[in-house]
Amino acid sequence: MGMRVRLDNGTQVRIRPIEPGDKPLLEVALGQLSDETIRRRFLAPKPRLTGTDLRYLTEVDGRDHYALVAVLADRPDVLVGVGRWIRDTERADRAEVAIVIGDGLQGHGLGTALGLALADAARERGVRSFTATMLAENTPAQRLFAVISHRLRVTHDGATDELVGDLAA
Ligand SMILES: CC(C)(COP(=O)(O)OP(=O)(O)OC[C@H]1O[C@@H](n2cnc3c(N)ncnc32)[C@H](O)[C@@H]1OP(=O)(O)O)[C@@H](O)C(=O)NCCC(=O)NCCS
Repeated sequence: MGMRVRLDNGTQVRIRPIEPGDKPLLEVALGQLSDETIRRRFLAPKPRLTGTDLRYLTEVDGRDHYALVAVLADRPDVLVGVGRWIRDTERADRAEVAIVIGDGLQGHGLGTALGLALADAARERGVRSFTATMLAENTPAQRLFAVISHRLRVTHDGATDELVGDLAA
């Protein structure tokens, strides 16, 4: 199951929905992220992942919380990217999206591939726009969000930007 993708550096990955059994893979992958990548993803220093956190991140319902992982095609036990969206509790047609790619594979198109796949799944489940909070200086994340958005609104709030992107029909 899943979708095979070839990155622009030749690396072959497989993108598939997250599973409860991904807890150890996710824990290892998050533990290997650089401080800078952690800061960009969580807008805070390295979080201490509790068992509750890992359950929340991997035991998703696939409807209001949807998550995809990318693993190496020839090493399916190595997780190299994860992306998710969580539906807004007040506006059911909105969801907050977040993606993180392992440092060694950033900048080769994997974030874009995950973002587009997340957007497809979102549209199928009635989500019409994605929201995200990111550092204003985070050019790759800003560009990735622009690529998956049909129409984009950005609100500046100090060092961070609030983005709302309508998904293409
Ligand atoms: C942001 C992130 C998910 C993007 O994924 P990625 O696989 O590295 O990015 P891609 O290769 O798909 O490129 C996405 C865009 O950023 C641009 N980009 C990539 N690396 C870049 C860099 N170092 N400097 C400037 N632009 C860059 C790409 O050109 C592309 O834009 P384009 O389509 O307009 O050309 C990834 O870099 C990451 O995990 N960063 C740390 C965590 C984070 O910031 N998460 C997002 C918070 S919501």
